Amino acid sequence: MKQALLMVSFGTSYPETLEKNIAVLEREAAAAFPGWTVRRAFTSGMILRKLARRDGAAPDDVPAALTRLAEEGYEAVAIQPTHILNGDEYDKLCAQAAPFAGRFARFSVGAPLLTTLEDYRATADALMASLPAPAEGEALVFMGHGTGHAANPAYCQLEYLLHDLGWKGAFFGTVEGYPTLDEVLRRLQERGPVERVTLHPLMLVAGDHASNDMAGEEPDSWKSRLEGAGYTVSCILKGLGEYPALRAIFLAHARAAIETMFTD
Ligand code: CO
Repeated sequence: MKQALLMVSFGTSYPETLEKNIAVLEREAAAAFPGWTVRRAFTSGMILRKLARRDGAAPDDVPAALTRLAEEGYEAVAIQPTHILNGDEYDKLCAQAAPFAGRFARFSVGAPLLTTLEDYRATADALMASLPAPAEGEALVFMGHGTGHAANPAYCQLEYLLHDLGWKGAFFGTVEGYPTLDEVLRRLQERGPVERVTLHPLMLVAGDHASNDMAGEEPDSWKSRLEGAGYTVSCILKGLGEYPALRAIFLAHARAAIETMFTD
């Protein structure tokens, strides 16, 4: 049986972060699932158009990747998203994949990073194993993307969990959802004596949002606003895909997607 695992990412136009976060995960998937062809697709139309303009070529979107696999005679296809939330991009992926279900003998779609409560625990554990614990007088602030989608409370749940696990100096904010940086600034004050803030993106890749909205020199970047509020700020420009413990969760989800296909 010809079997393929389609790894689906939002996408990025930054070649370095593509390599360090997405390509490395795809290579690990190829090593973890021998006998499975690993393919790439991106869900962001904006990124795909930008890459096509810049490079003259771009990865497939989901329908193009699935059409190609069907035409090449693949019979078992598992899709594993690298998205963080069960949000808009994941909904779009599922909607785009649904019409293809009948074209493969076996077909399944895996879960984003933050889906079940066990996923939140695994993600909290992976963050705690991968990053130095917030020191005395220090706070870790994670920048999530945020969304108007019902999945947005994921950030608050992850923050609660980290606090319960002992990282009371870890806070989550978002670019486009709740909490915003204003709430984070208030929580830092309520936390008591915090002098130093370390900023991390809570995104698969350290792309535009991490480089500009988080760590940029513009006056409205999170770094500038935190410095303006009196904190000493350092920025860690690493996507979640750069941490082996986080990649392992996506690989476990891919394994579950593959196993689901063969139990019926
Ligand atoms: Co964005």
